[in-house]
Amino acid sequence: MPGGVGRRFSCRRIPRGRAVHFLPRMPIVTATRRLRFNAAHRIHNPALSDEENTRLFGKCNNPNWHGHNYVLEVSVTGPVDATSGYVMDLGALREIVEREVIDQMDHRNLNLEVPFLRGINPTSENIVVACWNALAPHVAPARLSKLRLWETENNYVEYSGDAAV
Ligand code: NI
Repeated sequence: MPGGVGRRFSCRRIPRGRAVHFLPRMPIVTATRRLRFNAAHRIHNPALSDEENTRLFGKCNNPNWHGHNYVLEVSVTGPVDATSGYVMDLGALREIVEREVIDQMDHRNLNLEVPFLRGINPTSENIVVACWNALAPHVAPARLSKLRLWETENNYVEYSGDAAV
């Protein structure tokens, strides 16, 4: 018997005494919180000449900065807690995201004023990866599963960590 019955179930098998009990498989759900911030930046690679920066980045290389109304969507994934019915309290997630990234970027210059972006050319791609690195350690026991960063209504980037690539 051992093994023969268990293989037919994807659920956890909990031995208790001589009896074997099967628990329903815990559903895994993704929950997303959307947050907004405004910030100024300049897309500039100091390793390139001014001419190369202008050619590569165009108006985004304006030395006098320009701004965006960014939207950051933060997704966490995990089992639904039996008591709360939540993957994670999205109010708690909002507080974490505000503390770790939004409050540092909102109404700031992303090139000059944000500690976790220091030394980074603030393209959306680089910002979303930096946000990931800042947020991932703080959402346990849920798992940070995806960030989507909107720079304009038409442009967004997504990052799910390097393991998902
Ligand atoms: Ni821009």
